[in-house]
Amino acid sequence: MLYELIYRSNAKAGITEEDIQNILNTARGFNEAQNITGCLLFNNNQFLQLLEGEFNILMELYERIKKDDRHTELVLLHMRETDYRVYPNWTMAYQSVASKEVKRQVGITEFTEFEPEEESALSKQLFQAVSSNMTAD
Ligand SMILES: Cc1cc2nc3c(=O)[nH]c(=O)nc-3n(C[C@H](O)[C@H](O)[C@H](O)COP(=O)(O)O)c2cc1C
Repeated sequence: MLYELIYRSNAKAGITEEDIQNILNTARGFNEAQNITGCLLFNNNQFLQLLEGEFNILMELYERIKKDDRHTELVLLHMRETDYRVYPNWTMAYQSVASKEVKRQVGITEFTEFEPEEESALSKQLFQAVSSNMTAD
């Protein structure tokens, strides 16, 4: 069964472009092999990630991601069965987004303003908006 999961987290202090590139390299290898797709957004030293895939694989992956010391204070915002993927062609898309773009799309300026459940639809809306500007390579 296809599920989607969205969480937010705080990147470790002083995280570098190289750290993020390393995360993406690992992520894309595993995700490709396990049919996980999604998108990682970065703003103001915070991450927002959408992960899509088969329930058990997704849960195992999320447990692993939670233990990663390149970020802290993970908050699960959204976890739901779904019929379609927002990012069918991306093993892990990545975009650094400006606060004004986040504000323009969903009316908040920081990922920490997303709260679990009540605003989970809002976080998904942001991914949908971002994906419409992307072309798969
Ligand atoms: C923000 C963030 C997003 C990540 N996303 C993924 C991902 O989509 N897929 C993945 O396999 N690993 C991802 N990782 C890396 C995992 O946390 C972990 O390093 C990787 O699965 C290897 O696990 P291991 O070191 O226990 O073997 C992510 C890490 C961070 C910090």
